[in-house]
Amino acid sequence: MSTTRTASLPDRSHHVPPGLAASRLEGNAALDGAVRSMIEQLRAAQAELVASRGPRKELAESYRGWLERNASVRGRASYYPYLGSGLGHGPLVELLDGSVKWDMIGGIGVHLFGHGDPDLCEVAIRAGLSDLVQQGNLQFNADSIEFAELLVEEARRCSRLSHCFVSNSGCMVNEAALKVCQQKTGAAPRIFAFAGCFMGRSTTMSQIGDAAGYRQGIPLNTLVDYLPFYDATLGARSIEMTRWHLEQAILRYPKQHSCLIVELVQGEGGFNTAPREFFLALFELARKHGIPVWDDEVQTFGRTERMFAFEALDLGEHIDVVTLGKMSQACACLYTADMNPGPGLLSGTFSAATSAFRVGRRILERMRDGGYYGPDGRIARLHASFRAGIEAIRGRHPEWFPPVQEAFGRTHDRFVGGVGGMMRFTPFGGSKDRIMRLMHVLFEEGVIAFYCGHDPYHVRFLPPVGVMTPEQFEPVMEIVERSLARVASE
Ligand SMILES: Cc1ncc(COP(=O)(O)O)c(C=O)c1O
Repeated sequence: MSTTRTASLPDRSHHVPPGLAASRLEGNAALDGAVRSMIEQLRAAQAELVASRGPRKELAESYRGWLERNASVRGRASYYPYLGSGLGHGPLVELLDGSVKWDMIGGIGVHLFGHGDPDLCEVAIRAGLSDLVQQGNLQFNADSIEFAELLVEEARRCSRLSHCFVSNSGCMVNEAALKVCQQKTGAAPRIFAFAGCFMGRSTTMSQIGDAAGYRQGIPLNTLVDYLPFYDATLGARSIEMTRWHLEQAILRYPKQHSCLIVELVQGEGGFNTAPREFFLALFELARKHGIPVWDDEVQTFGRTERMFAFEALDLGEHIDVVTLGKMSQACACLYTADMNPGPGLLSGTFSAATSAFRVGRRILERMRDGGYYGPDGRIARLHASFRAGIEAIRGRHPEWFPPVQEAFGRTHDRFVGGVGGMMRFTPFGGSKDRIMRLMHVLFEEGVIAFYCGHDPYHVRFLPPVGVMTPEQFEPVMEIVERSLARVASE
């Protein structure tokens, strides 16, 4: 079974003019041979990892020791008893206890090509020979420009976005986006965001993010007006209601809002989707009142049926600022010429690591050219396989899928959800306790997933869509079924 594929794209990682000392490293046969043999060794080691397996008894004690060291140095244990060995093979990852697991969460969306993709490792090895580990806003190489240009090129096809600022976390580019919006609106103090949103962990983003636990002990100095996200049960009525909320707050606080922030598919909030008309109604109203629209694609980027979710929903024309990260390895804030801030607003010591720029660009090129997008693209086919797998389990065990419990005693029967490479399912009515228990049972049985949403809670998959095949959901679903049976019987 092969779990990795390399693209047949040329490695255009550098364009050094002939005659420079640096050109000795470009097209250098000895270097190429050395890199090739490193990658051969990697492939040979990976060949062993073809299916999940349990931990080795003899490694249990040393593994426990590592986990204790981690808990001690961090001050608390991590969510999973996870510690990678440093080797993986596409969707499979080896842990230091000798177990091999199907990784269906990929660092919460980062590892789009899974573990140890040979092509990406080759790009990273070559990047390791660069004079710079980290590039910055004062000193940088061509990598930095090429990465930003590729993003702008992709965004420009269907939006007005034309400039790009790079930084090294989703949260930091969100901070950049907020400042861009605030400066544009003359320091307007209020923000529109959606109930259930997540934006990162800075003091400001923790306040905007709609989870009480994430802002405990933080003084609240950011003024946020929350809007209800789309509710599929209410349909058109939901669009009217949210538009009404937006209008009310604009009337209450005229000219006080710096932005309307939106995740076109809510990530942490529960992989909630909404139709184009929902967003359109809000964006048109925001524009009428001079409120910039900021689309946070940190989690959606690369995973819907187009590279940008705004493209998949044909909303690019309405977007003033977009932020992205995770699978791109380096994070970015893109904005229109009209939103371009004054000098001094955006900078920072680091932009990103050279390897992040080069591997990120390679990922984007492979996704752009590899047949991933569109209604019959590889992402859509993988999503269909996921849904079929969950529906088959539900067919055999409807008792594990009672109605999903929502706020105020309402229920629904959307047991499978999400879009593209963002997949969720909701057993046990979305009960927090049982979903949390399921996370740990799945981990023990050999599948790494995570949860999303709050009441209802869902099981979240962000699988490595770059390398995973629809058939690989078969062994994954076997483990899911076994795990559901265990939790159901407890
Ligand atoms: C929508 C969204 N925005 C922002 C962030 C923050 O990104 P980071 O964790 O890289 O700071 C996340 C992270 O999960 C996210 O999902």
